[in-house]
Amino acid sequence: MQITLKNPLDMHLHLREGDTLACVFPFSFTSFAGGVVMPNLSTPITSTALAMDYQEKLYALSKEFEAKVALYITPNLNKQELLQAKEKGVKILKLYPKGSTTNSQNGVSEILDKSTLEIFSIAQELGFILSIHAESGGYSLDREFEFLEIIKEIAINFPTLKIIIEHLSDRRSIEVLERYSNVFATLTLHHITLCLDDLLGGGLNPHLFCKPILKSPKDRDALLSLALESHPKVCFGSDSAPHLLSKKLTSPASAGIFSAPFLLEQLCTLFESHNKLENLQSFISDNAIKNYELNLQSNKIITLHTSPCTIPSSIPMGKECIVPLNAGKTLPWSISLHS
Ligand code: DOR
Ligand code: ZN
Repeated sequence: MQITLKNPLDMHLHLREGDTLACVFPFSFTSFAGGVVMPNLSTPITSTALAMDYQEKLYALSKEFEAKVALYITPNLNKQELLQAKEKGVKILKLYPKGSTTNSQNGVSEILDKSTLEIFSIAQELGFILSIHAESGGYSLDREFEFLEIIKEIAINFPTLKIIIEHLSDRRSIEVLERYSNVFATLTLHHITLCLDDLLGGGLNPHLFCKPILKSPKDRDALLSLALESHPKVCFGSDSAPHLLSKKLTSPASAGIFSAPFLLEQLCTLFESHNKLENLQSFISDNAIKNYELNLQSNKIITLHTSPCTIPSSIPMGKECIVPLNAGKTLPWSISLHS
């Protein structure tokens, strides 16, 4: 059996910099035609110049991967910078509530204050997409739910601004997605297949610690249904977030799951096991093209066939290593060479 996917897209991934970038990026550019690259680097991408510089670094490593680098919203962002970003083809602004996750210390603390609302208003006028790490500073399992009030405010006040709830993790968010025409979402492989017990129900598994935290089996199953039916307002965004093993094993452990290796093979396995392979194309590409109004240059065709492959137990990184999601697992699907 085989399946062909046209222009797979990863609409949320972390590629980092330097040696880590060189180590992790091939897993994405060999499988995906493009994607949205997150700006929370050690020096965050807070200006058009930094975004262009990073885009060039990515281009030097792959001429084919259409990287959309998101611009990090800080309290210093202004209209002039946004005009420049627009002119250079930046499409996506990323909002991190200050302190919510890795390298979010430059993020926004008062999301509904006058100056941030002004940014949203300019973003709407210029046609940017607003991608949000939607978590409050409250109790871990309620952070996304608590943040929904802010999403609703933005959605109502800026009705033509497209808002993406990144890595949707809580089933209570689905209602907001359905109620507001300008609210969309990305879904990760881990939030649709795992729950809190996978992280800490047996022994603590630091490789499954991420933000937003994995939730209940009911949340997982509701999100999985959205993916399997390829709900038109959702698309795939892995949130692949590599951290060195040593950083996962020290306290506090870094949040992030390195899911980039063998993503398409895993998604194929998942969709086939639920008899929904026919919906994978829209989940992995078509919905994103519509929702983000992408004008892709590439025409990447990936063929997968039923032949086993095994995810490595770790990926070497200098003297260290990075442990991928589902390390050591054997999958029934492989990407065909020459696809
Ligand atoms: O788990 C996460 N890791 N969530 C994020 O939002 C950021 C990411 C990272 O950059 O490591
Ligand atoms: Zn992320």
